[in-house]
Amino acid sequence: MQIGKLKLKSNLILAPMAGITDLPFRMLNRKFGCELAFTEMINARSLSSNNKKALFMLTTKRGDRPLGTQLVGSEVEYIHKAIEKLHKYKFDVIDFNAACPERKVIRKGEGAFLLKDPKKLKRILKIIVENSGAPVTVKIRTGWDKSSVKAREIALHAEDAGIDGLFIHGRTKSQGHSGEVDYRSIKEVKDSLKIPVFGSGDIFSAQLAKKMLDETGCDGVAVARGALGNPWIFNEISAFLEDGRAMERPGIDKIINTMREHLDSCIAYHGAKDGVLIFRKFFAWYTKGFDNVRALRVRAFSAKTKSGMLGVMGELRNL
Ligand SMILES: Cc1cc2nc3c(=O)[nH]c(=O)nc-3n(C[C@H](O)[C@H](O)[C@H](O)COP(=O)(O)O)c2cc1C
Repeated sequence: MQIGKLKLKSNLILAPMAGITDLPFRMLNRKFGCELAFTEMINARSLSSNNKKALFMLTTKRGDRPLGTQLVGSEVEYIHKAIEKLHKYKFDVIDFNAACPERKVIRKGEGAFLLKDPKKLKRILKIIVENSGAPVTVKIRTGWDKSSVKAREIALHAEDAGIDGLFIHGRTKSQGHSGEVDYRSIKEVKDSLKIPVFGSGDIFSAQLAKKMLDETGCDGVAVARGALGNPWIFNEISAFLEDGRAMERPGIDKIINTMREHLDSCIAYHGAKDGVLIFRKFFAWYTKGFDNVRALRVRAFSAKTKSGMLGVMGELRNL
């Protein structure tokens, strides 16, 4: 498996998620079998003006490889500047976001808005390809809405710009994150392109990863919500793809140990206060499907210190 000059050991990828795929989250998922991971989405304009938050999102460390970053934007001038800033970081991949459906992104003509204008998307991608020196990919959706599903056309324009790979979320912008995944459109894109194509959408289990690969013929899968509170999904997918083996779900001890490790790394990275606040939402994801967990979740969401959060975690054993 290769994206341009980047060789990958597997085709299991952690999709970029704003507010989620920070350094602690990436490292945790790598421990359980994720290969390529991405930083959070970074706004080209913010990066070009050295915005502190944008620069912080680029932080990495040894072991956090292979690593891609993802830019979002629409103004050529800022995209150009952002690419220059990225040079010194030596990312393995630079991805461009043409998939984000958030109103504040669309309003600026960015993210999924570019699905409406494949020629403009191509012009932007060309600039990134010509100036980045790293393999370039794009993330698209199947289209703007159900009356304008033109993934193939968008993907062909993108490939024409000289990119090395394409990620496709099998939903339209209008669908947001719900509704059925359109495997047929992903297959159409895969069948039309020469570069590797990675499928995204509802990779919530090893079985659904296999379904994506089987139904679309895509080269790999990008796991997103399926990894929330569930970093083991990568090992589970590997085992299942290898020989149909279903791995045992982690028991409570493994879950609590992983939560502790995640909390510790959130604190080390974001600081004592923010680390705990950021971890709160992960508490909810780690405990998805637990019986009678509601009261503990309420307490987790008001925990302000590491010891407070650890106390709530410890009580998970008593449920
Ligand atoms: C909280 C959240 C944040 C996301 N942020 C980004 C992002 O910054 N860039 C991007 O390309 N996709 C982003 N996505 C989309 C995911 O990468 C993925 O394509 C989408 O969730 C579909 O996969 P899933 O159904 O398996 O979750 C985000 C998704 C979620 C749930």
